[in-house]
Amino acid sequence: MGDSFSDSQEYYCGDPLARVVAGSIDQPLMRFALLWFELDHSFCLTCALLQDTAAMAVAITIRELQGMGRVAGKVAIVTGAASGMGKSDAHLLAREGAVVVVTDLNESDGQAVADEIGENAVFMRLDVTDEDNWRAVIAATVEKFGALDVLVNNAGMIALGTIVDTDLESWRMINAVNSDGVFLGCKHAIPAMAESGGGSIINMSSVAAIHGQSFVAAYTASKGAVRALTKNIAMFCKEQKNGIRCNSIHPDGVKTPMVVKVATGKDTATQADIDEIGKFGNMCEPEDIANLVLFLASEESRFINGAEMLIDNASTITPPVGV
Ligand SMILES: NC(=O)c1ccc[n+]([C@@H]2O[C@H](COP(=O)([O-])OP(=O)(O)OC[C@H]3O[C@@H](n4cnc5c(N)ncnc54)[C@H](O)[C@@H]3O)[C@@H](O)[C@H]2O)c1
Repeated sequence: MGDSFSDSQEYYCGDPLARVVAGSIDQPLMRFALLWFELDHSFCLTCALLQDTAAMAVAITIRELQGMGRVAGKVAIVTGAASGMGKSDAHLLAREGAVVVVTDLNESDGQAVADEIGENAVFMRLDVTDEDNWRAVIAATVEKFGALDVLVNNAGMIALGTIVDTDLESWRMINAVNSDGVFLGCKHAIPAMAESGGGSIINMSSVAAIHGQSFVAAYTASKGAVRALTKNIAMFCKEQKNGIRCNSIHPDGVKTPMVVKVATGKDTATQADIDEIGKFGNMCEPEDIANLVLFLASEESRFINGAEMLIDNASTITPPVGV
């Protein structure tokens, strides 16, 4: 096998040893399976070394049946999933085997996301500031799918305003969605998750909660509340031994409609608007956040609890230019 095989996108394997062994095997099925298992499966390696294609095919079938995704069988609620990061989270969780309850205030876009995902998703309208709404969505989720394993508290809003020019109405509105919404979601999800045998709560905060952002006082305070509440919940759940973990995510700029609204004042954002804004600054894609959400939702992060996960390309350790 030459370099073209070992370097090809289709078969690429990060393990150099696996590439060398695969390169010495003629049969395409063997090579593919060996790279796929990345030498972490001794049965697979033995089959490969014995050149036993039939046994390898059986191993692949078993693996297919066992490993249907990193969150296979989990039931997840994602808030604010009609747009931006929430939409991306919902898609990735479903692709990795979860059943996803796509929730948002925006019914048409939320339903469209659930339709795109297909049979692994349903849409339920949820205004995160409304406690009765939370009760109803969690009850409907458990009734329909039998459990609640993952809650992604992603819904949020932002408005410009320093500490001296933010009015009380704006302060209350931002904190109602970003802070009260997370409080209500956690409060009502925890008993349902405990009944399900445990779970993972993922709260969307921001770098604003770490280093402050002078131009968004209410937003910064709301995300600070999320950061602190997350640690409170992690401690509570640990004491209760209910198997629930709670972590916060702190992105810097992410290419979503929200940044267009902040930067331009527009109510809606096209993909062209997002691409234009995305040319500036330290900004990642919604999928970069979704990958972290997936990890925190999965058992791979089972010992991560009460953590604040920065996803900011070092922006919080880089002094702002000119300051
Ligand atoms: N985009 C960024 O640069 C950035 C950076 C750090 C943190 N965040 C946070 O990430 C989260 C997602 O932001 P995004 O950039 O994807 O924004 P977005 O505007 O694309 O999506 C936010 C979604 O939340 C929904 N929403 C708003 N109020 C709601 C309510 N009361 N109930 C239910 N849903 C509601 C909106 O309808 C929308 O679908 C937010 O919490 C935001 O504060 C964003």
